[in-house]
Amino acid sequence: MKKIKVGVVGTGFIGPAHIEALRRLPNVEVAALCEVTAELAREKADLLGIERSYTFDELLKQDDIVSIHICTPNFLHYSQSKAALLAGKHVICEKPLAKDLVEAEELVQIAAESGLVNAVHFNLRYYPLARQMKSMRENGELGEIYSFIGSYLQDWLFYETDYNWRLEPDKSGDSRAIADIGSHLMDILEYITGLKTTAVLADFNTVHPTRKKPLKPVETYSGKMLKPEDYADVPITTEDHANVLLRFDNGSKGVITVSQVSAGRKNRMSLEISGSKKTFSWCSEAPNEMWIGNRDSSNEVLMRDPSLVNRDVTSVISFPGGHNEGFPDTSKQMFKEVYAAIAEGRQPETPTFPTFADGYRELLICERILESNKKQGWVEV
Ligand SMILES: NC(=O)c1ccc[n+]([C@@H]2O[C@H](COP(=O)([O-])OP(=O)(O)OC[C@H]3O[C@@H](n4cnc5c(N)ncnc54)[C@H](O)[C@@H]3O)[C@@H](O)[C@H]2O)c1
Repeated sequence: MKKIKVGVVGTGFIGPAHIEALRRLPNVEVAALCEVTAELAREKADLLGIERSYTFDELLKQDDIVSIHICTPNFLHYSQSKAALLAGKHVICEKPLAKDLVEAEELVQIAAESGLVNAVHFNLRYYPLARQMKSMRENGELGEIYSFIGSYLQDWLFYETDYNWRLEPDKSGDSRAIADIGSHLMDILEYITGLKTTAVLADFNTVHPTRKKPLKPVETYSGKMLKPEDYADVPITTEDHANVLLRFDNGSKGVITVSQVSAGRKNRMSLEISGSKKTFSWCSEAPNEMWIGNRDSSNEVLMRDPSLVNRDVTSVISFPGGHNEGFPDTSKQMFKEVYAAIAEGRQPETPTFPTFADGYRELLICERILESNKKQGWVEV
């Protein structure tokens, strides 16, 4: 079998997760990677067992590399995705697709004109029980949707000494918690419910208006106490925490909360969708179980098991019930669909995976949320 050769750009946290997921697909070979410098690229390539390493421009010149994964900080997504598409490569970009709507709109257009496969890594859609909720809703098992309650909570920015490029708007964009983790919530909400968000009312809070930025790489200090002179005080303009009320196109209402300062909540997306027949409840920290609430009979717990879920969900499950699947499996399942399209050489008419157009949609809602918080009033989407 001739394998599809892939180049991965950025090897911090999520780049290696892409690489691991890609290596679990039979028709794909991670052939090259790229980092911010040629030296770092070589070092990471050796560490990850990848033969070839390049700077970004060199990577795009490699004719045998068919697709590019963009796993860099947000501010690079637009320029790198654009350059890769113009070089004739299929592109899988991390979320958020771009820093703002103008950039995202251009990417959607270039991708459409090229006919190349374009995808945004909204991998959380690929938890099998997320697809089960979508499937049950489509089959009418949820009924008419009454309400949506969602939250995405983390604690890795809990202390004022916690620091990362995501706190700097020139690298992350004008929104942080909403753009970083709210983006997944906004995407999965519309994906599962089939509803469109029509208006938003947002209220943000910056719990730490000043943070302490380490003046040297944090790794240098691992296991050591930093001294006061090792930090610079940096003013923070983006949100640690946000509440947003939502209105949907069927007249129903919802609410979401995102926070990066919730002690003990490591990476917890929680969804509760109530309809005229049932309520679905599911949480990403226990992703192999879904709660189904009934008014007139016992409540149920559905386990992720290919023999128990709807037939159209089995394609995103690789292991039998009781053999738990989790975060790394979501990317594998998504890339399976993306690489089926890449094998055909073009973007399908109705892609099953999240596309640049979905990335644009999520940024549109995100920008309206920012606008709403600024004016402290409802904004239509
Ligand atoms: N889908 C998900 O579940 C998920 C999870 C985490 C992060 N992300 C997204 O992935 C992106 C990266 O996040 P991360 O947590 O891996 O960040 P990170 O800081 O850990 O890694 C970023 C990497 O990009 C490299 N880089 C920077 N500039 C570069 C350049 N010009 N060329 C090549 N490489 C360059 C850095 O050296 C670093 O290795 C973000 O956009 C984030 O939103 C998505």
